[in-house]
Amino acid sequence: MEHLLNPRVKNIEISGIRQFSNLVSQVPGAISLTLGQPDFPTPEHIKEAAVRAIADNRTGYTANAGLEELRKAACNYVASRYDLHYQSNEVIVTIGASEAIDIAFRSVLTEGSEVILPGPVYPGYEPAARLCGAKVLFADTTKTGFRLTANVLKHYLSPKTRCVVLPYPSNPTGAVLSESELAELADLLSGLDVLVISDEIYSELTFTERHHSIAAQPGMRERTVVINGLSKSHAMTGWRIGLLFAPEPLARHMLKVHQYNVSCASSISQHAAIAALTEGQDDALPMREEYRWRRDYAVDRLRQMGLPVEPPEGAFYVFPSVREFGMSSWTFAERLLREHGVAVVPGSAFSRLGEGYVRISYACGRSQLAAGLDRLEAFVNSLRRS
Ligand SMILES: Cc1ncc(COP(=O)(O)O)c(C=O)c1O
Repeated sequence: MEHLLNPRVKNIEISGIRQFSNLVSQVPGAISLTLGQPDFPTPEHIKEAAVRAIADNRTGYTANAGLEELRKAACNYVASRYDLHYQSNEVIVTIGASEAIDIAFRSVLTEGSEVILPGPVYPGYEPAARLCGAKVLFADTTKTGFRLTANVLKHYLSPKTRCVVLPYPSNPTGAVLSESELAELADLLSGLDVLVISDEIYSELTFTERHHSIAAQPGMRERTVVINGLSKSHAMTGWRIGLLFAPEPLARHMLKVHQYNVSCASSISQHAAIAALTEGQDDALPMREEYRWRRDYAVDRLRQMGLPVEPPEGAFYVFPSVREFGMSSWTFAERLLREHGVAVVPGSAFSRLGEGYVRISYACGRSQLAAGLDRLEAFVNSLRRS
């Protein structure tokens, strides 16, 4: 009965990260530097709020858009931290940032419309856009420090462009856009009929300056959908709480897609999220400081190995080039795994623009990171000798 499947579904490939994880599971004892989630536990006070919610029988459906108290807390949070100003009817509590991406795309993209993704890029966007029948264009950011500048973007805009995704801080590169780069993008985009989908899930994990959102730029609020959530900031990946902020005329329609899709996010997780966004506003701080230490350590080690690397300014990944070894990033990662027992993600998992790089996650303990980098160094040295 496979012929009955929607061809768009058949044409989607399993993510390269998942394919590589399957390989990793075949190598017992491998050190994994592939993790896309915090290695910290969810803070105690958040877990306690969830336990209380269960004990108090707060276990039914909530409003489709999410608990009013949570949406208000989310509005206060982004207002105080990122100067973003929304009313509670402009917020949708989603099932992770993943669902927010999906409902934003499904509400906006039509057959044949175009989406611009800055590549290399998180692999969650392309399949979601293609399921809508949209065409995906990867803007090459490999010569601009992995940042989608206005100069790069303008080459990819066309009358068919429906939206541009800004995924900063970036997975897999750790790149961040500065306020002046955002201002230039806003200058370019504010005169166009194009929507920006700004995925800011790593906004609490920036190392140089505080996070800036494009939606805070003049003329951009009404044409931007901001996606955020608690997965990375509060080490809550399994709780599945995302947040979508959009001006009311857009949010009203996106809410319908969300409603018919999932009804609402988990009530228990929503109660936990209220604790995270009220008492837990600074929960990310100690984690960020630890990531910063690991980032500095990883960048130093990679430089000592002679691997070209852009120092990441956010998230918890570093993306060195392995081009000099003249093999695909997949072969490099597979040999590193099989011959030296350490797993990194091939850059090709992040679009063809990631070819020639590998993603190393430092969401792991210091000793694991050190041991993984020792093994990488041994591999790199052996390749140079051969
Ligand atoms: C850039 C980016 N956006 C969205 C997500 C998905 O987040 P969530 O787990 O909240 O669905 C991830 C997860 O790794 C990500 O890296």
